[in-house]
Amino acid sequence: MRALTWQGRRNVRVDTVPDPRIEAPTDAIVRITTSGLCGSDLHLYELMGPFMEPGDVLGHEPLGVVEEVGSEVGTLAPGDRVVVPFQIACGTCFMCRQGLYTQCETTQVRDQGMGAALFGYTKLYGEVPGSQAEYLRIPQAQFGPIKVPHGPPDDRFVYLSDVLPTAWQAVEYAAVPADGSVAVLGLGPIGEMACRIAKHRGHRVFGVDLVPERLARTAEWGIEVLDINAQGDIGDSLQELTGGRGPDSVIDAVGMEAHGSAAAKTAHTLTGFLPGRVAETLMGKAGIDRLAALHQAIDIVRRGGTISISGVYGGALDPMPMLTLFDKQIQLRMGQANVRRWTDDILPLLTDDDPLGVDTFATHRLPLEQAPQAYEMFQKKQDGAIKVLLQP
Ligand SMILES: NC(=O)c1ccc[n+]([C@@H]2O[C@H](COP(=O)([O-])OP(=O)(O)OC[C@H]3O[C@@H](n4cnc5c(N)ncnc54)[C@H](O)[C@@H]3O)[C@@H](O)[C@H]2O)c1
Ligand SMILES: [Zn+2]
Ligand SMILES: [Zn+2]
Repeated sequence: MRALTWQGRRNVRVDTVPDPRIEAPTDAIVRITTSGLCGSDLHLYELMGPFMEPGDVLGHEPLGVVEEVGSEVGTLAPGDRVVVPFQIACGTCFMCRQGLYTQCETTQVRDQGMGAALFGYTKLYGEVPGSQAEYLRIPQAQFGPIKVPHGPPDDRFVYLSDVLPTAWQAVEYAAVPADGSVAVLGLGPIGEMACRIAKHRGHRVFGVDLVPERLARTAEWGIEVLDINAQGDIGDSLQELTGGRGPDSVIDAVGMEAHGSAAAKTAHTLTGFLPGRVAETLMGKAGIDRLAALHQAIDIVRRGGTISISGVYGGALDPMPMLTLFDKQIQLRMGQANVRRWTDDILPLLTDDDPLGVDTFATHRLPLEQAPQAYEMFQKKQDGAIKVLLQP
């Protein structure tokens, strides 16, 4: 089959690789019709090289049609249309019973000390082949895949794999009081969708970014947007807009590649060029996230407010402003989204009325063969690229 493979820093290509096969009775094989490109893929593209092997297949936002099922996958049959959560979870262990699917004890990557396995996401998460490919093997298929009706376009359901539950969890974890306000840092797919969901729930929403077309698109949804390049101090502006206190909650939808942390940028560039083993140790132990967005969140949230982090961080020893966190009595909540925990809440919103605008959310739909160009365009934010869907 054809699949998008990682080859090195900022170097991906479409290769012919072996077709996946059923390996366990709980596996299924899905023929992919659409797979999203995500800000998380950009971390692998730019930065997480020490945890990648050349040839790794990327992608974790799959929608497709079941081709084949193992003998213990009672819930699926060939021909079913399914969207597949980005994490692999069993559905029955201690963690899964609490809805903490990203901590699944059946698929935890214990030799790396990490949580549940993820599709297409480094050795840290089990090096499971991803979905930017013609076919995908789904482990634990008795639980993960969500059946969706045939008929509506792929755009309607594909975001259930990641964007929607991640944005939903970001808003849930933000614990915005009724009549309260929330600032969302970063208006990529996750931040923008979090803005739409928070607005849909009746909150006052501020969206913060520095890319003009992202700010403009979010503003179209009635959200107050702030440009960090034009605005000077975002904290001051947000205080003025909220009666001197700051927003009740802040969502960090930026993560470890935030614009505006010079020292970490040097360290990032360094790990890009160090030999694998050395870079892995530096990245995993020394902690070199660019924390600009998180620092911003701590600065702008009101005293006693809540910060919800959905942006991914990967370092280990980040200097945190503990003095301010403690003094302001801030509540911090974070983690990879527990996809199935939220999908039943979200599904009723994926109707023809389309209150969250999923049908028109993608800015680009490209053939899988053009994935290398898609990565470059999305990373450089060229051609108005906000959400790219790849179609084999
Ligand atoms: N928690 C989860 O389960 C989960 C799931 C999917 C994605 N993510 C993470 O969410 C983050 C966002 O993903 P995305 O697909 O929207 O990616 P993206 O890269 O398109 O979005 C990031 C946005 O942040 C903006 N930005 C950069 N620095 C900023 C700053 N200092 N202040 C404000 N905005 C800034 C960028 O201009 C960009 O628009 C990534 O870190 C991704 O890995 C987490
Ligand atoms: Zn994703
Ligand atoms: Zn489990």
